[in-house]
Amino acid sequence: MPETKQTICVIGTGYVGLPAALLLARAGHTVIGVDINENIVRAINDGVLHIKEDELQKIMDEPQVRANLRAQTTPAAADVFLIAVPTPVDHRKKVAEMKYVRDATESIVPYLKAGNVVILESTVPPLTCKEFMTPILEKSGLKVGKDLYLAHCPERILPGDVFYEIVHNDRIIGAADQKSRDLASAVYATFVKGNLYQTDDVTAELCKLMENTYRDVNIALANEFAAVAEGLGIDPFQAIELSNKHPRVKILRPGIGVGGHCIPLDPWFIKEVDPANSRLIFTSRLINDEMPHKVAAKIRKAVRDIDNPKLVLIGAAYKANTEDPRESPAIEIVKILREDGYEIDHFDPLVEGYRWKSTLAEACKGADMLAVLIQHNAVMDELNATRAEIEKGMRTPRVLVFG
Ligand SMILES: NC(=O)c1ccc[n+]([C@@H]2O[C@H](COP(=O)([O-])OP(=O)(O)OC[C@H]3O[C@@H](n4cnc5c(N)ncnc54)[C@H](O)[C@@H]3O)[C@@H](O)[C@H]2O)c1
Repeated sequence: MPETKQTICVIGTGYVGLPAALLLARAGHTVIGVDINENIVRAINDGVLHIKEDELQKIMDEPQVRANLRAQTTPAAADVFLIAVPTPVDHRKKVAEMKYVRDATESIVPYLKAGNVVILESTVPPLTCKEFMTPILEKSGLKVGKDLYLAHCPERILPGDVFYEIVHNDRIIGAADQKSRDLASAVYATFVKGNLYQTDDVTAELCKLMENTYRDVNIALANEFAAVAEGLGIDPFQAIELSNKHPRVKILRPGIGVGGHCIPLDPWFIKEVDPANSRLIFTSRLINDEMPHKVAAKIRKAVRDIDNPKLVLIGAAYKANTEDPRESPAIEIVKILREDGYEIDHFDPLVEGYRWKSTLAEACKGADMLAVLIQHNAVMDELNATRAEIEKGMRTPRVLVFG
């Protein structure tokens, strides 16, 4: 078993890497946060959290954490290297864009020494550890599973509740050999209170993708049910609520599409490795990606009798009550309608760069349509409290609420 306190190099200090770096520093390890983004490095060294997680800022402020954590733009020698860099989808080919994982893995090769542990937290297509990372790591002259230990430990945190989840969620620790599993488990055991389940590397890689794909497929089913119900002229939400009274049925909520950094991307990584067995997964992705177009069509229809309608669309986050706009279907809807030539004011009180100046009523003055795409509590509260004032100020008082 390794020393309890180790030097840990966290490569990529974004939404996933930084919380891990903070918790590892709090557990007493010496942590070097490495990021190619100099602003992030500077923020960490200044004790400023660049992601919006209030509980994590408190941890950042703890003297022990400040003392144990430093950041820089290049890796350094360490006992453990934890890689948490982005794995976006190549939007044209719908395959994982692996350049960040490749660059990050190559960047640690000069620093590797016998006994080191490399942990990949990024979400990746199955076989990445075996076929993609191992050959790069072995350029060091060290053999994976013999001199060097490699594990995949996918992250499951929910943005907005990262502090609780990173500590309490169960984790999967996947590696091709037992020693890598044990060494990686020992690192997580220093700050995770959930269970640590050991398995092989490919199972760990696929589990992470299955978790998000499960949600994507079920959301697609809900969206399909909603379309059928609307076609029949009935209320989809009531139909779903009543169906969910069945003891073994739990239909998810239909919506305007699927956003965020994980669910709309990860199913593609399964299709990438086994397209023949991914027909349902592929179809679900298409159904969910089509939703912004269907919502845009509903908005067009609602204003088709008005010349040059002025629209106010609310929502840029990918889901309610978060400030995260990544892969947001709401932004996609605005883009589609702007490309059609509609005049649109686009707001989201939670998202940087989209906030309205004073009130929702003020933002809607002179508009022909208010469409709420994302039901943040703050938006719905203000809409409900000031609806009469909002409608009075509009040129045409039409309000649509989606999701
Ligand atoms: N955000 C989530 O909620 C979440 C949840 C589970 C899994 N994941 C997965 O975790 C991985 C990381 O996601 P994230 O949300 O933290 O991304 P992010 O963009 O917030 O952070 C990644 C960081 O890596 C840095 N980086 C890129 N290349 C680098 C390199 N070669 N060396 C050093 N730093 C480098 C970037 O500058 C960035 O700051 C992805 O694979 C993602 O799919 C994310």
